[in-house]
Order: sequence, then C-alpha cells, then structure tokens
Amino acid sequence: MAHNSPKRHLITAALPYANGPIHIGHLAGAYLPADIHARYLRLQNKEVLFVSGSDEHGAAITLRAKKENKSPQEIVDFYHELNEAAFKEFGISFDIFHRTSSELHHQTASDFFKVLNEKGVFTKKTSEQFYDEEYKQFLADRYITGTCPKCAYEAAYGDQCEKCGSALSPLELINPISTLSKKSPVLRETTHWYLPMQQEEPWLKEWIEEGKLDGKIQHDPKTWRKQVIGQCKSWIDGGLHERAMTRDLNWGVKVPVENAEGKVLYVWLDAPIGYISATKQWCEDHAKNWEEYWKSEESEILHFIGKDNIVFHCIIFPIILKQHRGFNLPNNVPANEFLNLEGKKISTSRDWAVWLHEYNQDFKNQQDVLRYVLTSIAPETKDSEFTWSDFQARNNSELVAIYGNFVNRTLVLTHKYYEGIVPELDSNYAEKANIENQLQTLSESIKSKLDKLQYRDAQNDAIAIARLGNKFLAETEPWKLIKTNPEEVKSILNLSLQIAANACIALSPFLPDSSKRLADMLNLKAYTWSDLGNIELIKNGKGINEAEHLFSRIEDDIIEAQIQKLNSKMELKEEPVELSEIPEFKEFISFDDFMKLDIRVGEIKTAIPVKKSDKLLQLEVDLGNEVRTILSGIAKAYSPEELVGKQVQVLCNLPPRKMMGIESNGMILMAESRTGKLELMSPQQKTDSGSVIG
Ligand code: MF3
Ligand code: ZN
Repeated sequence: MAHNSPKRHLITAALPYANGPIHIGHLAGAYLPADIHARYLRLQNKEVLFVSGSDEHGAAITLRAKKENKSPQEIVDFYHELNEAAFKEFGISFDIFHRTSSELHHQTASDFFKVLNEKGVFTKKTSEQFYDEEYKQFLADRYITGTCPKCAYEAAYGDQCEKCGSALSPLELINPISTLSKKSPVLRETTHWYLPMQQEEPWLKEWIEEGKLDGKIQHDPKTWRKQVIGQCKSWIDGGLHERAMTRDLNWGVKVPVENAEGKVLYVWLDAPIGYISATKQWCEDHAKNWEEYWKSEESEILHFIGKDNIVFHCIIFPIILKQHRGFNLPNNVPANEFLNLEGKKISTSRDWAVWLHEYNQDFKNQQDVLRYVLTSIAPETKDSEFTWSDFQARNNSELVAIYGNFVNRTLVLTHKYYEGIVPELDSNYAEKANIENQLQTLSESIKSKLDKLQYRDAQNDAIAIARLGNKFLAETEPWKLIKTNPEEVKSILNLSLQIAANACIALSPFLPDSSKRLADMLNLKAYTWSDLGNIELIKNGKGINEAEHLFSRIEDDIIEAQIQKLNSKMELKEEPVELSEIPEFKEFISFDDFMKLDIRVGEIKTAIPVKKSDKLLQLEVDLGNEVRTILSGIAKAYSPEELVGKQVQVLCNLPPRKMMGIESNGMILMAESRTGKLELMSPQQKTDSGSVIG
C-alpha cells in the first residue's frame, strides 16, 4: 500500500449525530477541508469517492426522543433531512450522504460484528453496571453524575470529571445519581462483548510512530499532524485496556448472536462502519465494486474528523479493520482542533453556535464567504476563533476589495475597450514572463500545500493570485494608458484575463460557487488542475460575458443583527449557576467581643467608580456626626446612581485602609447569596443616619 500516487481515493467525513443541526465548528473541523480535498482531487481527474452520512444511533438520540415524546426514528428523520439539505446548499459535494438507520448499514455492521466474533476477537464478560429502575434501563456513563473521588467535585460525570479532568468509571463516583430519574441507580449484572486493545499495542505503535504496517511502509508519519500522533501516543503510553463494544439499549444495530436481546453495537463501533455501508450503497447505485475502495492496494483512505474523534479513528477502528482482515487502514487522519465562537466554546445545548441551515437562509448565495472565512481561520494546528466582525472584514477587504474588484475591473475594461472580445497579448510584452513566473510559483505552492493537507495556507496562496492581478492593474493603470499607449493595454487586459482564469481554477476547490460564476463570465469551459500556471487559457478573439459582481459588501447592520441573535439566545439559556456551600457557623465569641463592633446606619451621599477597578466604588457616607469616604466592592451589583440616597449598615471601627491609592474608613455590610449576589442591608424604613445597630 505504499504509493505516491494512488489510483483511487476514498474520503470520509465524520458521520454527524442526527440529533441536532450542523454548526460552523463541524464545518471547519471536518466537512469543509474534506470537501476541498475531494474537489481538488476531482479537478485532477482522479477517481474519488467522498462519503459521509447521519450517525443515527446512541443513547443521546433515544433520550431526546423520550423527552420530546417522539420515536427515535422521527428525530433522526428530521435531522437527517435538515443536515443533508444544508450541506448540499453549502456546496459540500458528498457523493453519498448515507444513514446508519438504513437496512444496508444494519446488515453491514451486523455482519462485521459476526466475523469478528467468530474470529474470537471479543471477550465476553459479565459485570455490574448502573441501572435506573424508574426508567428501566442501564445507564450510559454520561448519564450518571456524582462526586469525583479525586477532587470532590459534586457534578462529575461517569466517564470524566470536568473539574479536574480525571478519566473516571461510573463505579468510582461517590453518591452516583441517574440524570434520568435523578435517583440513585442500582447495580445490576449485564453481559457485554469487549475488545481487548492491550494485545494490539505493538503493531499500533509501529504503525503510528513509523508508518509501518505488516512490515511495509504504509505512510510517512511526517505527513500526519503532530497532535494526531501525540494523542495516539499518549493513549498507547497510558496503557490500552479492554473496552465494551456493545450496550444495553433498544435502539441501534442488534448484537447478532443468540440470547442478546436488548443489546446493540456500541455506537462507536457502529458509526465508522457507516463509512463502509455508505461506500457499498454508492457502489450499488453506480454498478461499482465497493471492495476496490476499501481493499485494493491502489486505493487510499483519508478520514476527516475533529480532534474529539482521533482515538476512534486511529486506534479502535483500525484494530477492528485489521482483525477483520482484508481492509486497508487510513493513510492519513487529518483531525482538526476546535473552533471557538466570539470568545466562547461552541455549545449546542446552550445554543452558542452559528447554525449552517440558518446561515444558508440569512446569507443566500453567499456560501463562499463562510467557506472562505472558515478556511482562513481553519483550526489545523491549534484552536481558533470565529467572530462576526472578522467575517465582515475578510469579506469586505479581501473577497470584495481584492478578488471581486480585480475581476470586475478586468471584465468591465475588456467590454469598454474591446466590446468584450479578448485582446491580443504581445509576445514581447515586458510583464509577460514575470506574471507567468509568479503564477507558476503560486500554482506549485498551492499544490504542494494541498498535498500536505494544509488548506489554510493553500487558500492564502490561491487568493494571492487575485492579489497579484489587483496589483498588476493598479501599477499598469490601463485606464490612463489607453490614451497614450493603447497597444500595451491589449496585453495588460489579456494578461489580466489569464490571471482571473488562474484565480478561478485555483480557488475552485475552496470557493466553488464563485469560481463557477467566474468561469461562466470568462467562457472558461472545461478546465483541470493542470491548466494552472498557463497564461493562454482565454484565447484571443473569443468573447467574454457581462461582468457580474462576484461578492458584495456586508454592512454593519447585518453583522450587528447576527451578534444580537447569538446573544439573545444565550440569555434565554443562561448556564445553570452553581450554588456555593452554606458555611458552617463560626465558633462562639464573648459578649464583650460583640460589643467591640461599632455598627451604625449611614446614608450614601455620593458614589463614583474607582479608576482601573471593575469592583470598587468610592462612596461618601453620612454617619450623622461626620461624612466618611468608604470604598466598597459592590460595583458589579449596584450602579452608582441607584446607591445615592440609600441607607446602609456601616462597620465604623475598622482601621483606615488604602486601596487603589484611596483611603477607606469603614466597611459597608452586605449579604452574599449562594449564587454570589451581593445585597445591601438597608433599614425597613428610613431612620436617622448614625443610629447605632446592636
Ligand atoms: N457521530 C460521532 C461524532 O460526531 C462520530 C462521528 S465519526 C464516525 O462525534 F466515524 F463515527 F462516523
Ligand atoms: Zn475531579
């Protein structure tokens, strides 16, 4: 399987769960780079199959169905259709977007399990697991919470404590609670099929670290992303264990052996097999042999995923494929890091996301803008961030001001001076060789970056072609030259048209819609990747079509509306606040100790913020016989205006203390609620300032 130029390419993009819509994090993580790659290979006339589909099983889907009083099938039907349509509108060019609830998939996954089981790959084991008696079901790790045995955090999950990060098993939790019934679950015996991964360590290590498989070089590990290898290594070095490959659930692919009622394949075994069933379905529809994609030595497999899926694609699925025998392993797994949104982690449950189906609706025919921005900030080597203002800036100052502007000027001038007929390029024109060189250099660089799966840098080089054209026009100024040297203008516009055609081709994997529109304007018919760098793509004497704007400016109001939409949803779904513990009572003090406290009523006369502090206010407080300056940390709870005129409790005999350069003479007493909210302790009715409290 060592090959530099495989004959056939299978590209997979992670199967999204069919219990929610697609958001920009999914796009940047898997679907967009996978689509760019598929389009890039197709442009080279390579044999490509690009597959994905809905992941329609798992406990999350059954619980969602229960909550909404629907069947799991209804839930997955809805999201499968929504997501398939949204991907299509966005230009994600899957050859097939299959689904794991299909019969073909159930058959494929079931057969797969049978083969593995007959080969003795699994160990069958009975153990005690948590069971919710009210809901009458075994609980997935995520559905049990309890106190972390390592850090005592009270809301740790059965698989992980989010506070201290420890990996846990539900049995380790202190005081486990079912998130379904909110009651303590009971332990019940259940039997499952486990994959003993520890036995696979030697070959896995060799494959991941050296790229060797069965003694042969399968891939060059230098071509794999560092974080992918890093995550695998830390898993392997931490010691591989056995993992259950089945679950107690009534929704999924049934375990195909006798006496296994109520048991299904673990969704993580089931879903990657979805890549195989999708391939089978497509091949069945196109009279092809699916095995050529999965078993031939002339084929290459790439899995595009987000970083949360690395272990499944680089360790568990490869083990399964290898044990089954006959299957190729992936040649690369280009996993991405995470994309954040406006400074926060994208969260489906808190609705902190930009949803693809909503973008498609709000930005009709502007798919390429989001594609461009997401590739510009692709989280290839580290987490990155999407903000609406950056989205606007990249559209207005790059797509509109550079690419769109260059193309528009070129076409408009060609119509103005030559009635839309391509003028001739003088073979002695001084700039010709220079432009040709630059185009070739850029083309090679784009290709080499795409081959290295560096989409962000590749797109930068592709847009640099438009930048080159824009600069060329700005420097040669054909609109001035037309009066003094009209012959040269012919060459300038001819070359500009060639640059535009090059930009169109180079950008077409990234921005397919605008490239298609530009190709139509230029009358650039069939083209391939090998046309890049050529400066005779648009022939002399041919006609071009009317100029149409490739991109349009996005104004502030559009961006503000999006930011507002995002924030308004966030307010509706405030995060549940954690309640602080009610503290133990303090030790007894003597009555004399108490009498030492000098607490009085004071009236706030003025209140101003303290510079460089977001907590402190500077107050002038009337205590009857004197007015004191007191600093108080209440700026987050009260505005200065609402404080003026309020009577409060003041501890008067604390020694003066300087904060932020200001002397404070006393302390305003406040109650702090369990959610951390501060409340002033004012008298029920107005009383004399200076009244003694005791
Ligand atoms: N649905 C899962 C997820 O989105 C798994 C996708 S990858 C696959 O995380 F290989 F399982 F398809
Ligand atoms: Zn913990």
